Amino acid sequence: MPPQANCALPAGFQLDQYRIVRQLSLGGFSIVYLAEDELGTQVAIKEYLPNSLALRKEGETEPQVSEEHLPAFRYGMKCFFEEGRALAKLMHPNVVRVLNFFRSNGTVYMVMQFERGRTLHDMIQKHRGTLKESFIRAVFVRMLNGLREVHAHKLLHLDIKPSNIYLRADGTPVLLDFGASRQTLMIEQPILKPMYTPGFASPEQYERRDQLGPWSDIYSVGASLYSCVVGSTPLRADERMKDDTLQRVSETHAERYSTQLLGLVDWCLQLDPLARPQSVYALQKALAQQTPATATATTTTAATPHPPWFTDLGTRLKAFIGRS
Ligand SMILES: Nc1ncnc2c1ncn2[C@@H]1O[C@H](COP(=O)(O)OP(=O)(O)O)[C@@H](O)[C@H]1O
Ligand SMILES: [Mg+2]
Repeated sequence: MPPQANCALPAGFQLDQYRIVRQLSLGGFSIVYLAEDELGTQVAIKEYLPNSLALRKEGETEPQVSEEHLPAFRYGMKCFFEEGRALAKLMHPNVVRVLNFFRSNGTVYMVMQFERGRTLHDMIQKHRGTLKESFIRAVFVRMLNGLREVHAHKLLHLDIKPSNIYLRADGTPVLLDFGASRQTLMIEQPILKPMYTPGFASPEQYERRDQLGPWSDIYSVGASLYSCVVGSTPLRADERMKDDTLQRVSETHAERYSTQLLGLVDWCLQLDPLARPQSVYALQKALAQQTPATATATTTTAATPHPPWFTDLGTRLKAFIGRS
């Protein structure tokens, strides 16, 4: 059966204690709505509605699920619930806040704090290859704080990519969409095909799923950094495993960004999981080793490469000269 587009609930629809304002997005697995609670507070509500298993026709409320797809639909629903439960425990400024989840219309809903802003993907599209290093660092340092918290709760995100990194109006990033992580919670029953986004998914997400770990999210962080630097998605990992033609950004973008940042991108994008930073903390430590002068603008022409040892030497020399 080819995937079919599901119809969203209409504006004004009363869904439990919330009223739908409008649809925010339609994905293959879910629909996200902007809604209001009884006090008029805006929330984002994600509705579990996998295209390949359930069909909601125009004007209907409950999706139709065929007998044949019912076990998979129910299994996915359970995973969706688990995702909500796991996320609800996380309270971090850089991770989307889950406020509630409930059952209705034969499916499940996750209520989140509504975030105003745009995705990092939109920013990359807009500034294609001209994002300033200080902007990239500011986004990733904080996003990694959120990811560290996720890993501390023994969860993996497994779908980190610029379209799942939301930037608030004040520039702070929020990690969204833990849709892929829910599937690993019950990995022993792979009824639904594992989800991954080509270009951002680690090699082990394609085959060696027993090797998944924090380093798998770190590969996706590397791919997201790569997109910021290059302006396009890196070659997908399954292709790279056959014939790795991905060029190292240290070689292709040396004139635009610091050696240290580029080295980090290449490090995260290693095909061998053991050759990457093994924890978010290790990655953050490396990222913090050299922080260029903070600037608030988003784009720039070129950043001067400053190898860390050179900066350190300069600082030490200045201190030495100052003392003499
Ligand atoms: N909490 C939220 N606040 C505002 N917008 C959101 C929120 N959650 C999701 N969205 C919007 O919905 C889109 C899809 O959400 P996401 O969780 O990534 O689901 P999908 O599985 O469809 O990719 C996001 O890119 C964003 O535009
Ligand atoms: Mg998404």
